[in-house]
Amino acid sequence: MAISRPSNYVWIDGDFVPWEAATVHVTTLGWSTMGAVFEGISAYWNPEQEQLYGLQFSEHYARFLNSMKLMRLQSKFTIGDLVQASIDLLRANELREDTRVRPLAYQADGTWFGTLLESATSIVISTAPFISSLGKGRKLRACVSSWDRIADNQMSPRVKCISNYQNSRMALIEATMRGYDQPIILNQQGKVTEGPASCLFIVRNGVAITPSLTSGILESITRQSILQFCRDVLGIPTQEREIDRTELYIADEVFFCGTGAEVVSVVSVDDYVVGSGEIGPVTATIEAYYHDIVRGREERYDHWRIPIYSRVGEMR
Ligand SMILES: Cc1ncc(COP(=O)(O)O)c(C=O)c1O
Repeated sequence: MAISRPSNYVWIDGDFVPWEAATVHVTTLGWSTMGAVFEGISAYWNPEQEQLYGLQFSEHYARFLNSMKLMRLQSKFTIGDLVQASIDLLRANELREDTRVRPLAYQADGTWFGTLLESATSIVISTAPFISSLGKGRKLRACVSSWDRIADNQMSPRVKCISNYQNSRMALIEATMRGYDQPIILNQQGKVTEGPASCLFIVRNGVAITPSLTSGILESITRQSILQFCRDVLGIPTQEREIDRTELYIADEVFFCGTGAEVVSVVSVDDYVVGSGEIGPVTATIEAYYHDIVRGREERYDHWRIPIYSRVGEMR
């Protein structure tokens, strides 16, 4: 099956390689990616300003290097190198639409099981357009998964190692086969963690509550941003604490958040209707504010965005 070509170039270890030439040998499939780590980063197009905004690149590459460290992958590149590579790649691909930037680090010589510590590490960054759900009134039906979340002392969910996503994948398969949109995964203590590729908030009595960072979740950049702007701008009280399963069923609102998930409302969990069954007011406020930030319509968080194209009269 031919792989569709979402962009002209892929960045590989410092070089811009034409899409068709960005291949690896078949013998490196499998083991080379067992310890591989990745990021999901977004850039949003603002049509009025004719500008593409890269979102929180430094934060994502800081986590990327932490993921590499935990998996004992060496990086020849700094956060700054990888941020610049992503900017240059978006420009080289001339993207003027909402776009994902997808870095991946893997053990390029891995052909069989072992520590792979002697293997060279390659970093690849690719880009692909995506369609944002922000402002579209998307509502999800969720269920609690029968699969437990992986624990920190097994395969740490704190970082984005590809192998962790087998746990997410099993939960997502089960949920969709049962007719739900997304699973909510509990840890081995029965407390709420997150979705397969997103963090989770519940709202009770006006307070936005999210599981703590030690409950078995990814150190999500969107979760952190929401906590920050709820406190600093929106005046929405927040809590980071353990969440019981049954709190999902009696919450006023539930929503997922993440770079890919954006901010999306959950209107039922295990067929318990959440609140009124519609997008709640706190979720709607957070979603609208997040949308303004990512599209460059809110100046307060300018430092979270990088304008990819030079503005008129500006040298870059
Ligand atoms: C398992 C998991 N949790 C949470 C998130 C949200 O993290 P972030 O907000 O950094 O995108 C993601 C991915 O994006 C994820 O894969």
